[in-house]
Amino acid sequence: MARIAQDFADKVALVTGAGGGIGRAAAELFARGGARVAVVDINAEIGRNTVERIHSAGGEAEFFQVDVAREAEIEAMIHNVIQRFGGLHCAFNNAGISGTPGPFHEMSLDEWNRVITINLTAVFLCMKHEIRHMIGAGGGAIVNTSSGAGMIPAPYLPHYTAAKHGVLGLGKVAAREYARQNIRINAICPGVTDTPMMQGTLAMRPDLEEPMLASVPFGRMGRPEEVAAAAVWLCSDAASFVSGEAMLVDGASVCR
Ligand SMILES: NC(=O)c1ccc[n+]([C@@H]2O[C@H](COP(=O)([O-])OP(=O)(O)OC[C@H]3O[C@@H](n4cnc5c(N)ncnc54)[C@H](O)[C@@H]3O)[C@@H](O)[C@H]2O)c1
Repeated sequence: MARIAQDFADKVALVTGAGGGIGRAAAELFARGGARVAVVDINAEIGRNTVERIHSAGGEAEFFQVDVAREAEIEAMIHNVIQRFGGLHCAFNNAGISGTPGPFHEMSLDEWNRVITINLTAVFLCMKHEIRHMIGAGGGAIVNTSSGAGMIPAPYLPHYTAAKHGVLGLGKVAAREYARQNIRINAICPGVTDTPMMQGTLAMRPDLEEPMLASVPFGRMGRPEEVAAAAVWLCSDAASFVSGEAMLVDGASVCR
């Protein structure tokens, strides 16, 4: 595990998708830095498990069960986090789904809508309600999870590619709109990362593992904590002049 000592004492950090690979690693890293952590996930079992892990390590966290596709739940989540912890300083909008791959011309509107709703619209909704609070509170830091597919196309995943490109656009526009309100907005673009999402994909399509690894110059998948470290750094005061950035964390996969 990387040892970075970002100081989040007196800070409140919210992480969506915190029951899963990258989100859980980020929640644990925030907690280790002294933050009180709102662990948000649609799945209560894995979300509560993240909270237990943080408590066992001596950190402070609480679980909030939320479907990020629903605006009313997001609005209530922000309200409840502020009630519980007294503020919200850092938000990592990370929940996402992989989408079912298929030829562009055969993709159903339902499948398109499912992936766009969770991977793009939900990020817009989380940002909207986080920013509303941060404006009044004098600032904050937001990081959204995009993907290498936010920069280059992932063939057979037009919905995922469009959503992840869209996440970068949302972040850039908000970074410029809210700079004077002291709100920084950045994105991380993970490459192939060893998480439950990736393991699920490989269980369905074991044939993908070899070409996937071949596409990574490091020759291995990223670890969730390696990706989380970038997101947590972007939320920290060490990144105080970084906003509108899209940071690749992909073992040099996308760069040319
Ligand atoms: N693993 C990779 O290789 C990879 C690569 C690039 C980008 N990403 C992105 O990283 C992010 C995290 O992915 P991961 O690999 O850790 O996946 P994961 O499946 O391990 O974690 C995602 C979490 O999001 C939660 N979630 C899903 N839908 C939700 C909803 N509607 N409301 C609330 N929570 C919901 C899941 O329950 C899960 O705990 C995603 O946005 C994903 O697109 C992952």
